[in-house]
Amino acid sequence: MKQFSDPNGLAFTASTGESAALFAKLTSSYMGFRRTTGEVLGQILDADPDMPMARCAKGYFAKLMGSSNHSAHALEISRDLDAHLPKVGATDRERQHAAALSAWTHGDMEKATAIWEEILLDEPMDGLALRLSHFTHFYSGDGRRMRDALARILPLWSEDHPDYGFLLGMYAFGLEESREYARAEEYGRKAVELNPADAWSVHSVAHVLEMTGRQEEGIDWVKGLEADWSTVNNFRFHLHWHRCLYHLERGEFDEVLALYDAQIVSDISSDFYLDICNASSLLWRLEMFGVDVGDRWSELASVARTHVADTDLIFVSLHYLMALVAAGDKDAADEMISNIRNWSQLNETQAGICARVGLTLAEGLRDARAGDHAGAMAKIGSVRYLMDEIGGSAAQRDVFHMILLDATVASGNALKARSLFAERVGEKVHSSWSWHGYSNALAALGEDAGARAAAARAAAIRSLT
Ligand SMILES: [Fe+2]
Repeated sequence: MKQFSDPNGLAFTASTGESAALFAKLTSSYMGFRRTTGEVLGQILDADPDMPMARCAKGYFAKLMGSSNHSAHALEISRDLDAHLPKVGATDRERQHAAALSAWTHGDMEKATAIWEEILLDEPMDGLALRLSHFTHFYSGDGRRMRDALARILPLWSEDHPDYGFLLGMYAFGLEESREYARAEEYGRKAVELNPADAWSVHSVAHVLEMTGRQEEGIDWVKGLEADWSTVNNFRFHLHWHRCLYHLERGEFDEVLALYDAQIVSDISSDFYLDICNASSLLWRLEMFGVDVGDRWSELASVARTHVADTDLIFVSLHYLMALVAAGDKDAADEMISNIRNWSQLNETQAGICARVGLTLAEGLRDARAGDHAGAMAKIGSVRYLMDEIGGSAAQRDVFHMILLDATVASGNALKARSLFAERVGEKVHSSWSWHGYSNALAALGEDAGARAAAARAAAIRSLT
């Protein structure tokens, strides 16, 4: 095999220059969540089955599925790649990618991330390393690392590069998760102007609108661009999920249930981890808003039962567990918690997060559904300030904060409920759920005037519809 340069100037070991050019297309496709990403990779592998980066990308994509059956496949690919590299020769960058895949498939997400960051020092045009590190920073729950990783790269790319908008959107998301909402919105909107089908960038702005309580604008934003972003892979369901969050706060529950049925779970059988995260989180939220969700949990529990032994991302496992405890499948839930306990003993990045936060949170979810509200309050409360570590976005993790408040109210601890809701309305001044909860907490303590004022705030937010 020889070395060929792609249009970004990156060297690839391949049989033909065409493979290197196609790999650049693959990277763009992946950054854009395009449905053709798998096809492009297949095309490269058919024509050039020994190309190291094509094999590595196959391993990466398997790992990105976020569940243990796919991870086992990624591990096999990684082992084959390690054996294959000495036979074909490879560039330093390709060897680093193979090492990152190996680290990741062995549970060392931090090492994998460090390798991608190292690659980017020399090769800032490596969009694959950049997007993958964005993903793993995301699942380390550290917005500042997401933000800074892009800040380092942005000045090194030409603004005319066709993928430049993807970088702006990633930067926007890092800014948003670092609570820099104004700058996040600016970068996100700029990215969407360049490419309205860039779902991740549309999503970065959706997050800003969520975190700043601009529900009406949020609905208009997501709906208005739907024709563009709905062309992407299953990530599109996450944008529907965001739209549901705005509707929830406005009390538009029929709309939420309709979107849940028509979109959120429409491809749940494909077993993509984000679909279950969207679905579990939304059903639990609906219930906390007082909505009867019928037998919708049972479908999610059937999917979750096939993931009780997963040891990939604790954030995802917690969402499978939510479905099991909510559907009342005690045996599967206990088995899963026992597996998370074993997982927390391993020497892996996510295992450490399980040990510090994930296991306690899992037990808190079980207690919340088993009627042990004081237990749920104590457990979830003990890790509330460590919760970022489980990864995902602040908006996604918020469901666990809401469950803590819900359990506190159910436990009958009115003073604690008042203090937690006071904090929440301080932060989420545009949230009807929060004002409603605060009102109830004050009423429970006989503080009627305050309760009426808080109830009026909740009603005002809903009546804006
Ligand atoms: Fe999101």
